[in-house]
Amino acid sequence: MKNITIMEHPLIKHKITVMRKTDTGTYEFRKLTEEIAMLMAYEALRDLPTVNIKIETPVEPCESPVIDGKKPAVVPILRAGLGMVSGILSLVPSAKVGHIGLFRDETTHLPHEYYCKLPQSLEERKILVLDPMLATGGSAVAAVDLIKKHNGKDISFMSIIAAPQGLQTLSQAHPDIKIFVGNVDRELNENAYICPGLGDAGDRIFGTK
Ligand code: PRP
Ligand code: URA
Repeated sequence: MKNITIMEHPLIKHKITVMRKTDTGTYEFRKLTEEIAMLMAYEALRDLPTVNIKIETPVEPCESPVIDGKKPAVVPILRAGLGMVSGILSLVPSAKVGHIGLFRDETTHLPHEYYCKLPQSLEERKILVLDPMLATGGSAVAAVDLIKKHNGKDISFMSIIAAPQGLQTLSQAHPDIKIFVGNVDRELNENAYICPGLGDAGDRIFGTK
């Protein structure tokens, strides 16, 4: 599908394998979430605009590129998306950070919004929406809907593990956004969990189960 990038880098594949394991504890799971987010952002931010500036090296004056334009916006979907933020800020420390709070109803699996605070001038920023899990796609679609309502235009969605169904739902609902995923897993189970997946990403990042 157009606009979908599936990460092929062996470092990302390796780190995802370690994340999946039941015996990977909270500290290690959190570190891996951060590291994978950073590696994925390196790819997702490859089209940031640059402008040449004049500088002096110890050898001679020259022109050299720096990032141009408004600072990018990073928007984690609460809770689990929070685990990806610090990895991305280590690459782009001056990025603005918005938050979208959504939880999935356990029976219907539909997302419910409970919080939304986004940076100003969204229409001028490159926006990275973060959630480690793209399962049915309901949360991702709702988050992108909200960002578009706030005038966001240049939107990329990043998730570490996606189910085929979520990927299709998101790309059909928002064909204009870019989607970056670390791995596409087999399917969803009857509880709309990704198989083989890694369980509940929020609980594993925050140690709540
Ligand atoms: C998880 C996950 C996504 C959502 C994915 O969050 O972090 O936001 O489910 O599922 P979907 O693609 O079917 O919408 P959850 O609602 O469990 O909330 P939490 O992050 O607070 O645990
Ligand atoms: N949310 C998760 O955290 N894990 C899944 O497998 C599906 C939704």
